[in-house]
Amino acid sequence: MTRTTIHAAALAAALLAAAPARADEAAQMARGKLLFTTATPACALCHTLKDAGAEGAIGPVLDELQPDAARVARALRDGIGAMPSFRATLSEDDIAALALYVSRASRMK
Ligand code: HEC
Repeated sequence: MTRTTIHAAALAAALLAAAPARADEAAQMARGKLLFTTATPACALCHTLKDAGAEGAIGPVLDELQPDAARVARALRDGIGAMPSFRATLSEDDIAALALYVSRASRMK
């Protein structure tokens, strides 16, 4: 194999490896956005998050708080203050999708 062939093969492998990750992330973002307004009780009821069209005013404005994914996941699993735990109603996949979505969407302008 020539050097160029090796590089091309490495590039193709890298692209193949990256594509499913991107698709997976896009699916998680879509799922998180949907759950933001459909979880029981809905996040949107209590939180403002512009990307989700949510204007709840009971909890902190997530566009301002800009929590990272770990912080979102912790609040969802354990509850915090007046916010209930969602451990009983959301799967770990749901929590991961919401954590990714809220951390990213709260940083969108
Ligand atoms: C019944 C109202 C209510 C609902 C529903 C609710 N929250 Fe909250 N949330 C709150 C309140 C109140 C706080 C502030 C708690 C505190 O700091 O004492 C909070 C805090 C948070 C925080 C910050 C946690 C931290 O570490 O400071 C995040 C992130 C969050 N909520 C995300 C969500 C998401 C995502 C959902 C939907 C699955 C949701 N919340 C549903 C009321 C709610």
